[in-house]
Amino acid sequence: MADGTQVPRAWDRHEILSLFDPASGVLDRRVHSDEALYRLELERIFARGWNFMCHGSQIREPGDYFVTYIGEDQVIAVRDEEGAVNVLLNTCRHRGNALCRAEQGRAKSFVCSYHGWNYGLDGRLIGAPGLSTYYHGDLDRSRLGLVKARVEEYLGFYFATLSPDAPSLHDYLGEVGRIGLGMMCAYGEVECVDGVQKNIIDCNWKIAVDNLFDWYHVTYSHASADSAGFFDISEILHPKNQMVMLGEYGHAIGGPATPQEIQDQIDALSDEQREAMSRAQPRNSPRVRPSSATDLMGPVGVRSHGHPNIFPNLWITMSGLQMCLRLPRGPSRTELWWFTFVPKDAHAELKRKMIWQANHVFGPAGLLEQDDGENWSQSTRAAGGLASRGLGARIGMGLGHGAVEEGPRGERYVEGLVSEHGQRWLYRAWTEWMAARDWAELEANHAPPPSGAV
Ligand code: FES
Ligand SMILES: [Fe+2]
Repeated sequence: MADGTQVPRAWDRHEILSLFDPASGVLDRRVHSDEALYRLELERIFARGWNFMCHGSQIREPGDYFVTYIGEDQVIAVRDEEGAVNVLLNTCRHRGNALCRAEQGRAKSFVCSYHGWNYGLDGRLIGAPGLSTYYHGDLDRSRLGLVKARVEEYLGFYFATLSPDAPSLHDYLGEVGRIGLGMMCAYGEVECVDGVQKNIIDCNWKIAVDNLFDWYHVTYSHASADSAGFFDISEILHPKNQMVMLGEYGHAIGGPATPQEIQDQIDALSDEQREAMSRAQPRNSPRVRPSSATDLMGPVGVRSHGHPNIFPNLWITMSGLQMCLRLPRGPSRTELWWFTFVPKDAHAELKRKMIWQANHVFGPAGLLEQDDGENWSQSTRAAGGLASRGLGARIGMGLGHGAVEEGPRGERYVEGLVSEHGQRWLYRAWTEWMAARDWAELEANHAPPPSGAV
């Protein structure tokens, strides 16, 4: 239902592919401002791809639901009586009223507030007032259930797609997407803390996404957090030990990595010794991962302490064990949803500390996001100007200076200095998704993760 329809005439395949030139790293800034491109993104990226819905711990019991979005379509992720998770389009099949108004909760069924049609947790139309009288028994309830998206999960993270042709979630994520989600669970099972923090920034959603690979801005944009003593940039940046992993369909992970020779030393340690090593490290250093993390993330992924993006819009960050959805709300507005996680078995004091850290780093009250949001909204505003949108954005850092290596699981990665390999991979994938009319065309024409020089 999502594929092959409503292609705006303004943008043909050739024009879309020319919006980003991987050979020069120049990006046409209309990708951050054009309304027709935005409409096409809803169809060709969000309706077609796998979108993060919620974590299983948010909907533990039958009837538990969480309302979220696929693009701008509101959906209800709900656990039914059999324990299965359904993702239902939040629109009544009678006249289209939104069924569920709360952001999350527990329900026995969903009753429309307009005329009282009643739907089960699996989307079935259970009943409607006046079935035998006003409708004369003519209403075929079996054909009027809520529209259901495809739902699959990995490590307890639920995703949904409106496309019947999308590959399985496992194949969609590929090695790099699975490493990204594995990073969340590297120290053990996690649970989502109640209260997803939501705020709106006047920026294009892709500017928020490309920033997560941007370790160039950290020293400058976030200097105030450093000088306030909130964190020590030199302890988190590691500009010479960077690794960018480039995955299928645009997934990528970029940021600091443990050098192989140090990882070799870690691999020889017991989990107890690793914990002792973590305690002896500077305050902002990442906790050393246990040996089980290598099974989950592979020998290359386990070295990464960067930022994964599950294409298109799910950012994972370990500074507070958080995930952030960048939900599109027009070409120049993005709604950010911050999900905070804690280890399931952690004691209350550790959970409290982790939540404090999460609240103070990102999210609407976070020190870092306040710096970032202002830059993103001003970059978006300038991308809409008649003269300024004709100037390209430059994403050429490190171009031609990277060598792609291949890990034992087929992981493709580049090590070295701070670079813009991740951003280039994002925009290249974006043009391929946008140019393809359906999944078959995307599968046939998208670039596999690169090898050789990049
Ligand atoms: S619109 Fe839902 S019952 Fe009429
Ligand atoms: Fe930032």
